[in-house]
Amino acid sequence: MQIKVLCLLLVVLAVAVAVGIHSIMVALRAPLPFTVSVEYRGQVRKYPPEPTEGRPEGSDLQVEKEQPCGFWEIFINHNEGPGVHKWTHYFPIYEEHFGHFCRGRENLTMGEIGIHSGGSLLMWRQAFGEKLQLLVGMDINPDTKAWERFGPNVKVEIGSQGDPQFLQSVKRKYPEGFDILLDDGSHIPDHQFTTFVHMWEMIRPGGVLLIEDVHGVNPLLHWLLHGHSHENASMPGWYYPNDKETGKATEVPTDDGNRLNRAPMMAFTSLSVQREVESIKVYPFVIAITRRKVPLVDVQAIQHGSQWMPY
Ligand SMILES: C[S@@+](CC[C@H](N)C(=O)[O-])C[C@H]1O[C@@H](n2cnc3c(N)ncnc32)[C@H](O)[C@@H]1O
Repeated sequence: MQIKVLCLLLVVLAVAVAVGIHSIMVALRAPLPFTVSVEYRGQVRKYPPEPTEGRPEGSDLQVEKEQPCGFWEIFINHNEGPGVHKWTHYFPIYEEHFGHFCRGRENLTMGEIGIHSGGSLLMWRQAFGEKLQLLVGMDINPDTKAWERFGPNVKVEIGSQGDPQFLQSVKRKYPEGFDILLDDGSHIPDHQFTTFVHMWEMIRPGGVLLIEDVHGVNPLLHWLLHGHSHENASMPGWYYPNDKETGKATEVPTDDGNRLNRAPMMAFTSLSVQREVESIKVYPFVIAITRRKVPLVDVQAIQHGSQWMPY
């Protein structure tokens, strides 16, 4: 018994010493004097990872052509103060979807769900500058309210993105809506879906809802394309023409692929989600949903020409 207790104490002591050394080295920005190897799913990973020769941090981004907002520059030079935590391949995605706001639009409004240590709010403020009329952070952690100190255009609302009542209260408080809504909160698929269903109407024409950290076997994309319901949210799919009578998505033909081709004309009244969603673009760990500037009222397929081969 005593030997077991002694062993346990030794392990706790070793971990404490390792964590202590790590903290000191991080504070001093010095390399760790040891490496740790962990075997995970058959692969050995080292911490800290070995630098790949000739490949500086974020080098993938250097092949990107345009960076109108300069998010990467801001991020990589942000070494002191409130922390910001991002996958590096997200930066070109931000430029692609938010860049036109840096080129043009004044009175930009942005919401970010999940603001943690506040550094991302600082990054958006720096990149958008005077154009940023309103930046609303939302977080379940009441301590993040502190980030309202960043400026008069920064507001923080406390609540869960999985709670429709919280989302409704945000909608009531900021009826002007958002040009950009970034979901970097819980990363739980049910929450991401609830947030999309309840907040989509807050996205302004030409705006984007960008969902981060869609990892693993995450059904979110399937739900967006094909429809889904759960206790907090439901919506029809975006993909199919819908049945006129029931409003439900029609079945995909599996027997005769030409059944749809044969109809000389097909026309449907678009579902609300088809009317408003311009595109759903998928990147590693990210889904970006953009709102049309002009609604798509009818979905139709028509034929032009006079000579036709039989199907
Ligand atoms: C990944 S961090 C956000 C990082 C930050 N956006 C950045 O770029 O540095 C996730 C944040 O989401 C918050 N969060 C977790 N669950 C949440 C929920 N259900 N609703 C809202 N926020 C949540 C956490 O408190 C945390 O601050």
